[in-house]
Amino acid sequence: MIEFVDVSKFFGDHKALDHANIKIEDGITIGIVGPNGAGKTTLIRLLCGILKPTSGQILVDGLDLQKHPTEIKKIIGYLPEEPNLYERPKAGELLEYFGLLYGVPRDQIEKRVDELLKLVGLSDRKDWRVSSFSKGMRQRLAISRALIHDPKIIVFDEPTMGLDPLTSRRIRDFIKKLKKNRTIILCTHYMYEAEQLCDKIAIIDKGTIKAFDTIENLKNAYIKEKTFKVGLKNMNKGILEKISNDHKLKILEKGENYLLVKAKEYKDLKYILQEEIIYFEDLTPSLEEVFIELVGEKK
Ligand SMILES: Nc1ncnc2c1ncn2[C@@H]1O[C@H](COP(=O)(O)OP(=O)(O)O)[C@@H](O)[C@H]1O
Ligand SMILES: [Mg+2]
Repeated sequence: MIEFVDVSKFFGDHKALDHANIKIEDGITIGIVGPNGAGKTTLIRLLCGILKPTSGQILVDGLDLQKHPTEIKKIIGYLPEEPNLYERPKAGELLEYFGLLYGVPRDQIEKRVDELLKLVGLSDRKDWRVSSFSKGMRQRLAISRALIHDPKIIVFDEPTMGLDPLTSRRIRDFIKKLKKNRTIILCTHYMYEAEQLCDKIAIIDKGTIKAFDTIENLKNAYIKEKTFKVGLKNMNKGILEKISNDHKLKILEKGENYLLVKAKEYKDLKYILQEEIIYFEDLTPSLEEVFIELVGEKK
């Protein structure tokens, strides 16, 4: 369990994180989402012990991070926003170096390095120098470096930023594979990525955690109306009038044999159309709508 208890961080008189309170249970994937400059990286760097809180306390498995930094760092793997890799060593040598540094026993290191290179699809590059690696390959190598000591908590700061769609998808696939039995904290400003990978989301804006909940609960709380596509047996004037006369429903689009309708709940629509409905689909907008509701310009 990771706990932030009233954690604030100032840089000079700029408040980067304001009284953050969150509890992260073991084994789940948490997304930290928010616009640029919101405080996501600050939150993560506090958790990884790179920054010290101005006030408040961070607990990992009940241990105070300030008092037990070494023990806690051993169980955390961290992929920074801009990973800095040594250029000269070969990929395998680099991982071996960090593995030994993080306490992987010497007789297990080779096996561990090979496993990780395989996981990130770089087995055939083991003996290539880092300086020859492309951006996507560097990111994959940096991920394997973060995992070298088999940490039970893994923190990814914008893991797919600036990468091509194929590499991004590959990285999301590794993250999915890693989810089993681990706690993952994923900072991202791609709402789609958070929605795909995370169990819970913290939405942060200007240093304040605006919401922290499951995706379903966030959608229920912040998306006021759902969007349904309903297929109809007969499309006729009577049906359209019935819907138009109901203040709880709004037709967004009329197709030849379907309608797109906004409603608070499906039952409001079902009540009006009854047996006329052949099928329905819930097309309620994504987490992005929740995000815009919470941090959009109108706020
Ligand atoms: N080392 C630092 N010194 C001064 N200001 C900083 C430092 N790190 C971050 N900040 C400021 O704190 C705010 C939050 O930054 P950051 O956590 O990096 O945001 P995010 O990762 O959400 O884009 C920003 O206004 C940023 O300029
Ligand atoms: Mg950041």
